[in-house]
Amino acid sequence: MRPELIVALDVGGLAAAAALVEQLYPTVTLFKVGLQLFTAEGPRAVEAVRQRGGDVFLDLKLHDIPNTVAGAVRQAAKLGAAMCTLHASGGRSMLQAAKAAVAGIGSPMRLLAVTVLTSLDSQGLEEVVGGKPDLTAQVVRLASLARQAGLNGVVASPHEIGVLRATLGPSMQLVVPGIRPAWAAAEDQRRVMTPQEAAVAGADYLVIGRPITAAADPAKATRRILDELKAVAYDDSRSV
Ligand code: C5P
Repeated sequence: MRPELIVALDVGGLAAAAALVEQLYPTVTLFKVGLQLFTAEGPRAVEAVRQRGGDVFLDLKLHDIPNTVAGAVRQAAKLGAAMCTLHASGGRSMLQAAKAAVAGIGSPMRLLAVTVLTSLDSQGLEEVVGGKPDLTAQVVRLASLARQAGLNGVVASPHEIGVLRATLGPSMQLVVPGIRPAWAAAEDQRRVMTPQEAAVAGADYLVIGRPITAAADPAKATRRILDELKAVAYDDSRSV
C-alpha cells in the first residue's frame, strides 16, 4: 500500500502552523504537532489543524506513571487527535493504561510507541540501560511489548522497517521519520531513506518536515513527493 504523508509542523507558533495547513490541505490530511508547537501553543495547535480540515498526529512521546499517561492520553483523545505517541520504555502497565484510557472513552485515536530514540547510538543506549545492549534487539523488544499491550503501531527509523515488519506482522502500523527525497538536503538527519525506498520497505506513514516546510513552495514539494510515490510498485498482499 502507498504510505500516507504526515507533514511535521515544527514551527514556533500558531500562525506559521496554520499557514502551512492552509497551503497543504487537502493534498495532505495528516499533520504532526510535536513538542515544540504543543509547548508553545497547547491544545490550540491541535484545534488550528482540525479547524482547517486536517487530522493530527500528536507526537508528545509520553513517558510517566500509568495513571498520569492515561490521563494525558484521554485529554489528547478528547482534543480529537488521530494519533498520539508514547515511549514503550514506560513499560507494559503504562502502555496498557493508555490503551484502556482511549478505549474507555470510545475514542478512535491510535497509539503509537516510540522505541529507542534514533539520537541514541549503542554507547548512548548503554549509558541509559547498562550492560551491553544490542540496539536492534532493544528496538524489537520494545516494539513487541507495544504490540502485546495493544498499541496500534510504532514510530521507526527507515532502517528498522524490515526487521519490525518481520517481527510485528502486517497489522502494526509503521510511522517513519528520517525521510529525505533525493533532491532535498539531509540537514541533521542521518541514515535517511527516500520516500520511495521507505515505501518499498513497507512504511505505512512517512513523517516529513523540512523538505516540505522549508521548501520555497511547500505545496509543490508535496506534489513532487506524491508523484514519486505513485511511481512505486506496491506489494498489496499485506492486509492492514
Ligand atoms: O524536518 P524533518 O523531515 O527532519 O522532520 C522529521 C520529523 O520527524 C521531526 O518532527 C522530528 O521530530 C521527527 N522525528 C525524527 N526522527 C525520529 C523521530 C521523530 O526526525 N527518530
